[in-house]
Amino acid sequence: MKKGFVFDLDGVITDTAKFHYIAWKNLAKKLGITINETFNETLKGISRMDSLDKILAYGQRENEFTTAEKEALAQKKNDEYVKLLADLSETDLLPGVHDFLVQAKERNIPCSIASASKNAPMILEKLGVLDFFGHIVDPETLKKGKPDPEIFVKAAESINVAPKDAIGFEDAQAGIEGIKAAGMYAVGISATETLKGADFQVTSMTELDIEQLINQ
Ligand code: BG6
Ligand code: MG
Repeated sequence: MKKGFVFDLDGVITDTAKFHYIAWKNLAKKLGITINETFNETLKGISRMDSLDKILAYGQRENEFTTAEKEALAQKKNDEYVKLLADLSETDLLPGVHDFLVQAKERNIPCSIASASKNAPMILEKLGVLDFFGHIVDPETLKKGKPDPEIFVKAAESINVAPKDAIGFEDAQAGIEGIKAAGMYAVGISATETLKGADFQVTSMTELDIEQLINQ
C-alpha cells in the first residue's frame, strides 16, 4: 500500500505552464529568438536559469551574455510571469485536484510538493491549497534539477515516506524520469503528450481513483 503523495506544481495542480510559456516567448522575442510550443515542452520542469540557457542555445546566442546579464534576463521573465499570476485564485486549480487533496487528507495520506519553481509557496497560497501540503521542497537546496531524482527523494522523505512507498504526479517528461529514478510510482498527467515511462497516465486528475492508486 502506498503511503504518501508527491506533486509537481506547474501543469499538475494548476495550469501555470501557459504563463511560463507566454513570459519566455516574450523574452525570447526581445532577443530575436522565436520559440514554439514544441520547444516549450522541453522547458517543462526545468529551472528558471536552465530554461534561459536552453532558449539562448536554441537561438545560438549562448555565448553572448555574462552571468549578471543572464540573471537580469531571468528576473525580467519572472517579473512578467508574476504579473500574469496576479488574478490566480481557487478557480484556477486543475480539474479533480481539490477533490483528490481532500480525499488524501481524509485518509491521512501526507502530501508534498516537488516543483522546480521558486514561486511555488506564493502560487499554492493564491490557490488556497497551501495547508494540504506537509512540505514544499525549496529548489534552492538542490544540487541537480529534474530529471535527477533528488527533488522527489527529498519531497517523499520530508513527509516521512520512503520513495518506494510514494506516488509522484507529473506533467513533464523530465519529471516522470526523476520520479522513476527515485524508485517511486509515477502518475503522468497530460492530455497532449505521451509521458514515456509513466506507470499510469491520465488526461486529468478527475480520472484517478485514490483507493485503486494506494492499493498498488
Ligand atoms: C517548473 C516549470 O515547475 O518551474 C518550469 O515547469 C519553470 O517551466 C520552473 O521554469 C521554475 O519556475 P520559477 O517559478 O522558479 O521560475
Ligand atoms: Mg510541471
